[in-house]
Amino acid sequence: MVQTNKKIRKAILPVGGLGTRFLPATKVIPKELLPVLDKPLVQYAIDEAIEAGIEEFIFVTGRGKSAIEDYFDHSIELEKNLMDQNKDDILKYIQDMILKPGSVSFVRQQVPAGLGHAVWCAKNFVSNETVAVLLADDLIVARPSCMKQMIENWDGGNMVATMDVPYQDTSSYGVIKPGKTNGKKIEVKHIIEKPNPENAPSNIAVVGRYILEPSVFDDLSLQKKGTNGEIQLTDSLSSQIGKVPFFGYNFDGKRYDCGNKLGFIKANSFFALNDPLIGKEYKKWLKENI
Ligand code: G1P
Repeated sequence: MVQTNKKIRKAILPVGGLGTRFLPATKVIPKELLPVLDKPLVQYAIDEAIEAGIEEFIFVTGRGKSAIEDYFDHSIELEKNLMDQNKDDILKYIQDMILKPGSVSFVRQQVPAGLGHAVWCAKNFVSNETVAVLLADDLIVARPSCMKQMIENWDGGNMVATMDVPYQDTSSYGVIKPGKTNGKKIEVKHIIEKPNPENAPSNIAVVGRYILEPSVFDDLSLQKKGTNGEIQLTDSLSSQIGKVPFFGYNFDGKRYDCGNKLGFIKANSFFALNDPLIGKEYKKWLKENI
């Protein structure tokens, strides 16, 4: 059933991925905690969700990811130390970023069986509400935030954030077949995971922001394997076409693919260039070193 009240309260954050592209760093550090300038990737996704009005956060973790739980908890020794040193600003910052008691849940994905499987692992916490999904790898710089733009333009049904990509890159993304376009909203006629350019229905790719109606979880429960032998969220979204409305949202903003080294370095560079403390000097250094 499509929910028509505009409130979306819950977000799922799949953070179980192995991060093999960032080995050896990710041998012990979850890739979602790698810093872009001074904030872990996952914090950008949380900040975006909070700006969009999300109140409950469901992390889907995996083995070796317990540092993420610690990150979202108080660190009593650190806070005491900062207090003793009168470092009030940073103390306030790290206390403020702790999410409200009871608003955070962690569920473990025991096997890396795909994004659809990770999202499905959160099913019991979602309890039949429309839910947002944010992939922390996709760092999106946007005002208002990408998820906020989506929720403001959502009117029931499933929704994915979209952007145009070069045709040669379609095999890295979920790709939609567009129908009617209304401003930034694109009707989705078909969606396919990681098509080769010659099979791609368009060059309009899905980036890691989703709004899911509960019926998507019914299809995920069937645990059907798709591209790369994984349970794909894309396939369950596809199964709902014709049953619930489905739109792409061509957000305003810039997305950095922090799942690969180049995108990660670009994001760091962007935030360094715009940092009030180091921006100027960094720009000078960059010019000298190009
Ligand atoms: C996932 C999704 C894909 C989407 C992409 C966006 O792929 O399966 O549909 O386009 O995120 O980043 P992944 O990058 O995890 O392989």
